[in-house]
Amino acid sequence: MTTVILLVIGSYLLGAVPFSLIVGKLFYKIDIREHGSGNVGSTNTFRVLGMKAGSVVLVLDILKGVIPVLAATYIPLEVNVPVLLFGLVSTLGHVFPVFLKFKGGKAVATSSGAVLAYNPIVFIILVSLFLLTLKISKYVSLSSIVAAISFLIISLILWDPLLIIVAVIISIVIIVRHISNIKRIIDGTESKITFM
Ligand code: G3P
Repeated sequence: MTTVILLVIGSYLLGAVPFSLIVGKLFYKIDIREHGSGNVGSTNTFRVLGMKAGSVVLVLDILKGVIPVLAATYIPLEVNVPVLLFGLVSTLGHVFPVFLKFKGGKAVATSSGAVLAYNPIVFIILVSLFLLTLKISKYVSLSSIVAAISFLIISLILWDPLLIIVAVIISIVIIVRHISNIKRIIDGTESKITFM
């Protein structure tokens, strides 16, 4: 049981590391929370700090989801805990980080990392739908919401009970965290990407 508890704590703490804030402060002397959408995520890092910093933060935020699931897969655990749950814990760490008074990101990159480690085919489908929506709408936020809803639908099609539970929780978290984006899309003030 000790290993499981340590892995849960480790997954949460890894998820809670605010890489966008660290990269912004360390290399650009900028607090990402005071610029763009104010979100501590890779989209806002791309927006505020550019392609290089955005790509680094995107990879690191995805790894926050990948590592706990892989760790739970390969580390022998005393009790049988579904590995995807550790990805859910790290995603919740990203959204509610202890280091930022529980005001974190919007769950997209870290949860996608957990899905990547758990089922790469589902990940590829979700990324394809994300990119298709992005190409058509130019809104990252809308693409994230479409991917979240698609995740739920795919989990129901696959009828994998664990995937369904995780997909329900993650979809709700993603949609709730995007309420401000949804309002801006309706107002016509949500920023669009320019490079696709
Ligand atoms: O992954 C977050 C993205 O969907 C929206 O980010 O910064 O535009 O609120 P942002």
